[in-house]
Amino acid sequence: MKTIAVLTSGGDAPGMNAAVRAVVRTACENGIKVYGVIRGYNGLINGDFIEMDLRSVSDIINRGGTILYTARCAEFATEEGMRRAVRTCQEWGIEGVVVIGGDGSFRGARDLSERGIPCVGIPGTIDNDIACCDYTIGYDTCLNTIMELVDRIRDTTESHDRCSVIEVMGRRAGYLALNSGIACGATAILIPEVPFDIEKHVIERMKKTQRADKKHFIILCAEGVGVDVKALAAEIEAKTGVESRATILGHTQRGGYPTAKDRIMATRMGNYAVKLLMQDIGNRVVAAQKEEVLDYDIFEALNMKKNIDMNLYNVAHEVSI
Ligand code: F6P
Repeated sequence: MKTIAVLTSGGDAPGMNAAVRAVVRTACENGIKVYGVIRGYNGLINGDFIEMDLRSVSDIINRGGTILYTARCAEFATEEGMRRAVRTCQEWGIEGVVVIGGDGSFRGARDLSERGIPCVGIPGTIDNDIACCDYTIGYDTCLNTIMELVDRIRDTTESHDRCSVIEVMGRRAGYLALNSGIACGATAILIPEVPFDIEKHVIERMKKTQRADKKHFIILCAEGVGVDVKALAAEIEAKTGVESRATILGHTQRGGYPTAKDRIMATRMGNYAVKLLMQDIGNRVVAAQKEEVLDYDIFEALNMKKNIDMNLYNVAHEVSI
């Protein structure tokens, strides 16, 4: 391949810039022209490209967000939108595309590959909800950010003998909630993968720990469980007598400079993706498993299922008393 493009799509994630940098530098080092696509699939449809060189990705390895900007593009999901994107790629001589994003972005990469533009996906999402990977770019930074924020909330929660009900991101997945719950010593963790009952899993649990002399409590909820944290805090206060507050951490979780792990893995994955395209291999997702980087067919990757580690869930339950 002589010319490729790189785009970021879906929710941004810390480390996406490190992946873009690795894609651009690997391409340049191997004599491949590389375009940065602005605002994900929108840019691919409209030909919103900038030619990148070694220096256009200087000083971004440490930055959160994405210098290419990102978007969720409804037009690309239509046949006409996809046709336009293929036409634009052909006009610009783009022979392969690296797509950094989540599974919605990979569906686009699969459709584009099927229409003759080989794509390689790199998993970039704070949610860690890509089935073929045990890690996604941005997850580690986000987890550490949540830990820091909850630690701060804990200081005031403890000082007032209160209960704090905290909602963390994770549209369909509880990885952030479960692992930050463990890291922050939450009394109860509510995630979409495990059915729960507020009375049994929150109220009774709090009462049990109260009897063991506990006076302040952290309850962690994944966004994906759809619990109204304000209403839950009110219910807890009414049923346990513990003054309660609710906090939604929101988008503070998604920004910030990436951790070493996210920078390193993003760099490895970006390099790996270009090496696949250099061999004319497309329709693949770069995956990370146990610190190893490997790849899957996109179709296969999208059909895989990822389960929550119930051992981890049980550990959290056992030590949070
Ligand atoms: O997919 C990542 C994510 O941060 C989810 O955890 C969250 O539900 C969603 O994106 C928020 O999206 P937006 O920034 O578009 O509101």
